[in-house]
Amino acid sequence: MKRGLFLVIEGPDASGQSTQTELLAKWFERRGLKVFVTKEPTNSLIGGVIRAVLKKEWKIDMRTLQLLFTADRAHHLRMEINPMLERGINVVCDRYILSTLAFGSTEEDLEWLKQINSKFPEPDLTFILNVPGKICAERIAKSRFGFEFFETAEKLEIIRKNYLDLKDFYKNTHVIKGYNRSPVKVHKDIVEIIEKFCLEKGIKI
Ligand SMILES: Nc1ncnc2c1ncn2[C@@H]1O[C@H](COP(=O)(O)OP(=O)(O)OP(=O)(O)O)[C@@H](O)[C@H]1O
Ligand SMILES: [Mg+2]
Repeated sequence: MKRGLFLVIEGPDASGQSTQTELLAKWFERRGLKVFVTKEPTNSLIGGVIRAVLKKEWKIDMRTLQLLFTADRAHHLRMEINPMLERGINVVCDRYILSTLAFGSTEEDLEWLKQINSKFPEPDLTFILNVPGKICAERIAKSRFGFEFFETAEKLEIIRKNYLDLKDFYKNTHVIKGYNRSPVKVHKDIVEIIEKFCLEKGIKI
């Protein structure tokens, strides 16, 4: 059986990953194609521990956190992503290895982060949503009360730069402009790249 496509959407917080994941899932469904939509951190117990840390309910160091993200990913691949791909189902994943590298490398050694993720498969296509930190912070400010705008904008800009530095980590990675235009326009760019990729590889879609 033909394997499904493994597609990943990446980017700084509020860059529109969930929005694009959703639009892409609907695109597959409209075409009558099977799609499994998923995200990291996952809804497993490991993902729950990670979310507790992100919500500051439990304090741990960055190294331990990155190991948890990586363990969550190993479980996610083994239990969900790989079985779906093997059954010919396309997988759209909201965040994957580049998230660990872009966020984790603010405090931990990038080479070590690459090493602990080195056994995981490369997606067929990765999309990095390129949105300036300031615009991401503006989007977050709309939904979150009393947060530190400048500090957040600055941190998100560092993450964005880290992502751009990682654009050659996986061969089929595309940087997509994710601001000053509608989510539908962004989605159209993504779809165009998927269609071109499938045409080149002789994949019927
Ligand atoms: N192209 C766009 N232009 C303007 N606003 C957008 C665009 N895409 C998404 N948004 C808005 O930005 C906000 C964040 O979007 P979304 O939740 O998809 O981001 P995310 O990357 O998944 O964030 P997080 O990392 O927090 O999960 C939402 O309010 C969404 O409607
Ligand atoms: Mg999201």
